[in-house]
Amino acid sequence: FTIPLFTGNGCNDFLPIPGILTAPWMVEMIRTVTNMYDHGWDERNGGNVSLLLEESQVNDYVDGAVLREIPTGFSCPELDGKYFLVTGTGKYFKNVQYAPEINLGLVRLTDGGETAQLLWGFADGGKFTSEFPAHMMSHAERLKVDPQNRVVMHCHPANLLAMTYVHSLDEKAFTRTLWQMCTECIVVFPDGVNVLPWILCGTNEIGEATAEKMRTARLVVWAQHGIYGAGKDLDETFGLIETAEKAAEIYMKIAHLPLVNTSTDEQMHQLEAHFGVKAREGYLS
Ligand code: 13P
Ligand code: ZN
Repeated sequence: FTIPLFTGNGCNDFLPIPGILTAPWMVEMIRTVTNMYDHGWDERNGGNVSLLLEESQVNDYVDGAVLREIPTGFSCPELDGKYFLVTGTGKYFKNVQYAPEINLGLVRLTDGGETAQLLWGFADGGKFTSEFPAHMMSHAERLKVDPQNRVVMHCHPANLLAMTYVHSLDEKAFTRTLWQMCTECIVVFPDGVNVLPWILCGTNEIGEATAEKMRTARLVVWAQHGIYGAGKDLDETFGLIETAEKAAEIYMKIAHLPLVNTSTDEQMHQLEAHFGVKAREGYLS
């Protein structure tokens, strides 16, 4: 596998550090954001992804030199010293594969999370996503619930977004509707979907609200905006959003039609027993 680089995009001044583009986590990140773009979830600069990395995963590819220090605007002591590969603000997912060192950055948090030390990337002087607060605060919360969590992913899938205009934003009702749309939804996200009302994006406020919602579910819908997913790797997190978005697509196809059949709670209990999952407490009768 080779990543095509610098094909007439005007970015030829910024040469990559040899090696880092072959790191498995880098390849996976580039493939994932490209796939997200191909799914239509990330128009223009829409969406952002952060991947938590161990020092041992990073050491082979960077020499530890700090290129720049960037204030984060929030504190997050739990993540002090942690490394993240993260998408840049204003950057287009469709361009990441052609110029990763401009569209992505590798940072280490210090000063209790108040400073991000840039170790690689953002080579045009850019910085991490404007949703960095939501990403970092969500990582901190998910790690408390699931120490294996490594990824926070945000995007704008059309059907989930459309659903927030025509469906109740009640979390139980929203979750139950999605579960009813595809048989395997309850198996993929038994913890359901939490929902935030419209809040100004790119702020610490929406970051704190998202992180709070991440305590009880790995999917958090932002009404009229998009969705956040969290998981142990990029593939799993992509699949989580993909499954919820498929369910929302079915809903948007049928919501205006007379409903003749639906999945029952009894069937969902059978799925719970067969697949060994436990639906969110109180969500099934
Ligand atoms: P960034 O370009 O800052 O990542 O913002 C994109 C986005 O989706 C904001 O919610
Ligand atoms: Zn967004």
